[in-house]
Amino acid sequence: MKLTNVIMQARYWAILPAAGSGSRFGAETPKQYLTLLDKTVMQHSVDRICQLPIQACVLALNRHDQIAKTLNFAHPALLHWVTGGAERMDSVLAAMQYLQPHAHQDDWVLVHDVARPCILSSDLQLLLDSLSHDAVGGLLAVPVRDTLKRGQAGEVVETVPRDHLWQCQTPQMFRFGLLLQALQQAKARQQQVTDEAGAIEQLGLPVKLVSGSSTNIKITYPEDLGLAEAILKSQISRPQV
Ligand code: CTP
Ligand code: MG
Repeated sequence: MKLTNVIMQARYWAILPAAGSGSRFGAETPKQYLTLLDKTVMQHSVDRICQLPIQACVLALNRHDQIAKTLNFAHPALLHWVTGGAERMDSVLAAMQYLQPHAHQDDWVLVHDVARPCILSSDLQLLLDSLSHDAVGGLLAVPVRDTLKRGQAGEVVETVPRDHLWQCQTPQMFRFGLLLQALQQAKARQQQVTDEAGAIEQLGLPVKLVSGSSTNIKITYPEDLGLAEAILKSQISRPQV
């Protein structure tokens, strides 16, 4: 059989950037190591992603991190570690380069902020199902619900129409070869991209929006920790589909 006739089944890989310092949160311990109910923010995020049919999950850690490798995870055999970089995109790129010898161009890679511990398995499944026949990929997002205004020096400058505006979350899921190319190009051109979709957009490729849940919050400020705890509690009391 000729190789071109073999239909390759795309596989899934996961990357969790976890090298941030949580400067906006302002705690002595980086926010990914704060406790939510029975385990750390990092353990919640990693354990939920590892429920997917993935080949491996790569965590990008701060070079001074001494905590991650001491934690118990539900699926330790899936975990790999790399040292992250100065910006989020550097951390993701380091993990992509670690996976490069193993991943096929058309495989899927899911990138998920370690600071989003409330991700629902039903939203993960929706993302996989919605993109399964897509050539590029996409991300979970929610339509903007509040009125938006641009401000300057504490005063409103203008109202920004919220039509067509989305708040972007993670996971962001793209074909491995395209995301690697996109991040390498952004790095070479010194373009600061704050998410994977931003790098893919720079290649001029279409990115799909998959409507997720507003409970998939990113812990950013101290008040978010209590909110995340309340969300986790409600998820446990009403197990998700
Ligand atoms: N991240 C990373 N490498 C960096 C910066 C961020 O891996 N150099 C990760 C964070 O650990 C987090 C995700 O990217 O999981 C989203 O970033 P953010 O919420 O901004 O976290 P921090 O950068 O840690 O927080 P802050 O911006 O307030 O310092
Ligand atoms: Mg940050």
